Amino acid sequence: MKSNTEKFGKAPHQPSLWTRADALKVHADDPTTTQPLVSADFPVLSNEVFIWDTMPLRDLDGNITSVDGWSVIFTLTADRHPSDPQYIDENGNYDITRDWNDRHGRAKMYYWFSRTGKDWKLGGRVMAEGVSPTAREWAGTPILLNEQGDVDLYYTAVTPGATIVKVRGRVVTTEHGVSMVGFEKVKPLFEADGKMYQTEAQNPFWGFRDPWPFRDPNDGKLYMLFEGNVAGERGSHKVGKAEIGDVPPGYEDVGNSRFQTACVGIAVARDEDGDDWEMLPPLLTAVGVNDQTERPHFVFQDGKYYLFTISHTFTYADGVTGPDGVYGFVADSLFGPYVPLNGSGLVLGNPSSQPFQTYSHCVMPNGLVTSFIDSVPTDESGTQIRIGGTEAPTVEIKIKGQQTFVVAEYDYGYIPPMLDVTLE
Ligand code: FRU
Repeated sequence: MKSNTEKFGKAPHQPSLWTRADALKVHADDPTTTQPLVSADFPVLSNEVFIWDTMPLRDLDGNITSVDGWSVIFTLTADRHPSDPQYIDENGNYDITRDWNDRHGRAKMYYWFSRTGKDWKLGGRVMAEGVSPTAREWAGTPILLNEQGDVDLYYTAVTPGATIVKVRGRVVTTEHGVSMVGFEKVKPLFEADGKMYQTEAQNPFWGFRDPWPFRDPNDGKLYMLFEGNVAGERGSHKVGKAEIGDVPPGYEDVGNSRFQTACVGIAVARDEDGDDWEMLPPLLTAVGVNDQTERPHFVFQDGKYYLFTISHTFTYADGVTGPDGVYGFVADSLFGPYVPLNGSGLVLGNPSSQPFQTYSHCVMPNGLVTSFIDSVPTDESGTQIRIGGTEAPTVEIKIKGQQTFVVAEYDYGYIPPMLDVTLE
């Protein structure tokens, strides 16, 4: 096997750092980087299932793609249990919050289709029961490969372990709808190595998931982004000068921030088909800043690489904070250096009055941002909430140089295609 150095002819890149100083610039409720309030009377996609992470069908260049005029999305999905005794509380009421909070353990990949880019119809499960090797089918990316309708679904097979995998199938359309056929053989691609990316043995709270394959617009090669943590035993990471950045007097204390070690990982394919991958050092690290940089993805615009990733308030380190939402970084070349958008990294956060209203934002190349509704307060004090498990209103952002601006809001789950492929 060739090493990185032999292959690229030089030492691999240095990861860019999201520093504590950058994160000190994060401010909730700036209207240009805050998602408009989601009303508590939102419609739900389905009373049978919860959905959360939404993965629009796209090509390897990032274009959201419809097939024969049908838009297609994949979602992480779990049954709702309104009459399961397990989720009935002592007053005989359905405890939807507990049901919702338990969903990750039974996440399955489903698909939906639509003629309008909204009003999604449930297609069904992508893989039959027993096909996926683990209990959880976690986030990834469906890629339309060609005009025959071949689809590579990259996703994360979780519990036991966490493995980036892919499964090939085909999308078939009729006048009446869309079906997914095949998706019968899951191929493991790679797991965390413990040298660049933290393993479960190094930290039981490790993250290694959310593959996002793409073709680099400049070198034409096939790469993949994913979520990771920086390798090393939990608690062994150093939050030094570089990770702290240029902070004002009084902000040098890093507390216990060594436990937060998120990174955006990258791998390069050794073959054309993306069956054989080599992990490279992370593109971006957030040691001492945040423990999760989830669902990383790119928008390629104006010759630049806009790297987006979702993160939470609860995963921030001691002494820094920010809203749940999507954060972004920009570079002139794939391997960086990346600088935080808007100075801080924050691109679209939840308003502080509704801190959990949406999550799992995906910024599409047309500037539209899709996300799901988590929970919305139904009273002034915020103690009563309505659980979502459905698509949020789509928001549009404008990306200009190193800045972004919220400019519009559209219907719930509006994910219009950027190009249509006529299947042969
Ligand atoms: C984001 C996420 C993903 C993961 C999935 C698990 O909402 O945490 O990183 O794949 O949800 O449900």
